Amino acid sequence: MTEKNYQAWEVKESDYPLEGSTEDRLKFLLHYAILAPSGPNTQPWKFAISTNTISIYADLSRSLPFVDPSNRTLFMSVGCAIANLMVAGRHFGFKPRISFFPRGLESELVAEAKFERNEAPPEEEDDLFPQITRRYTIKHKFDDKPVDPAILEDLSSCLGPGFHLIYMTKNQEKEEMASLVTRAHHIQLADRNFRHNLGVWLRSNRTSDFDGMPLYTFGVPDWVAMAFPAVFREFDLSEAVIHRDSGLIRGCSAMAVLASDRDDRQAWTECGLMLERLFLRATSYDVRLSFFSQPIGLPELRQELALKLKQSFPQLLFGLGYSTPVKHTPRRPLDEVLIAQ
Ligand SMILES: Cc1cc2nc3c(=O)[nH]c(=O)nc-3n(C[C@H](O)[C@H](O)[C@H](O)COP(=O)(O)O)c2cc1C
Repeated sequence: MTEKNYQAWEVKESDYPLEGSTEDRLKFLLHYAILAPSGPNTQPWKFAISTNTISIYADLSRSLPFVDPSNRTLFMSVGCAIANLMVAGRHFGFKPRISFFPRGLESELVAEAKFERNEAPPEEEDDLFPQITRRYTIKHKFDDKPVDPAILEDLSSCLGPGFHLIYMTKNQEKEEMASLVTRAHHIQLADRNFRHNLGVWLRSNRTSDFDGMPLYTFGVPDWVAMAFPAVFREFDLSEAVIHRDSGLIRGCSAMAVLASDRDDRQAWTECGLMLERLFLRATSYDVRLSFFSQPIGLPELRQELALKLKQSFPQLLFGLGYSTPVKHTPRRPLDEVLIAQ
């Protein structure tokens, strides 16, 4: 039997309450929203349903003040959940309309999504829906198999105006990115506050927690994974982390930077939305993503990357490639993230 903290992944399309109320149906869509990726699997979202509207909130109690002080990654993660919600909504015959930050950028209400019936036939993006339960992030190793440039080009089409995707496929470019990530790790992992902040989200391989990152995703064996979170918090393990990340970067087929023209909560949320659509589209080709948030979390390295790529605001550095399947990560049950309106 599947452990409780992994049961969210067993959501079945056939359980959609066709005869249920609109609220029941919208609640069902949220089973797909919560499968979204989030920076260290904090799942920093909350939802409220009222007749035909879902309100999506950022859960700032799950923020990481030393790792992600501006909550940039947190809002991107909420954007990822919104992307899944939109894809699921369209799949089940709705025409979702979204308005971002209806109470202003300082509010924790990130978006309101109104779901009306769609009389038109399912949209062509419906092929993204089955990818929601197939998607996972790669943290251990890519296979030595190149991604077709036509696929990379197709993934770029997931972006809207004001957002940019820059690919780096040459070995020299990947080396430069590996060096940037290395410098970021040296700075961040020497900082005890940073290590403690991130370390509390590391989990042993047999975790019964509903959030955080089990170490099997990084390829860490069970016997090491038991003690690893505590050791990570107390000691600077930057050399080991750099070794892993440099291998991932050199081994991926392409590195990419997602960048935007604006840099505020709404831009971060929209970035997350596009990232997750791109992630789902990549999954449809069996192409997987690996994230490297580190250099963008440091203003001086982020600026260096911005100048190099001639982009205003780099938001996420990631690698793409093929890989052997990995077990999913835990998810919190829906009832934990559903609030009364
Ligand atoms: C905005 C964002 C930033 C992320 N940054 C990193 C990162 O820097 N390093 C990393 O290993 N994973 C990163 N991740 C991946 C998460 O750790 C991963 O999504 C989470 O553990 C859940 O696992 P899953 O994607 O396999 O479902 C990031 C994810 C998101 C959405």
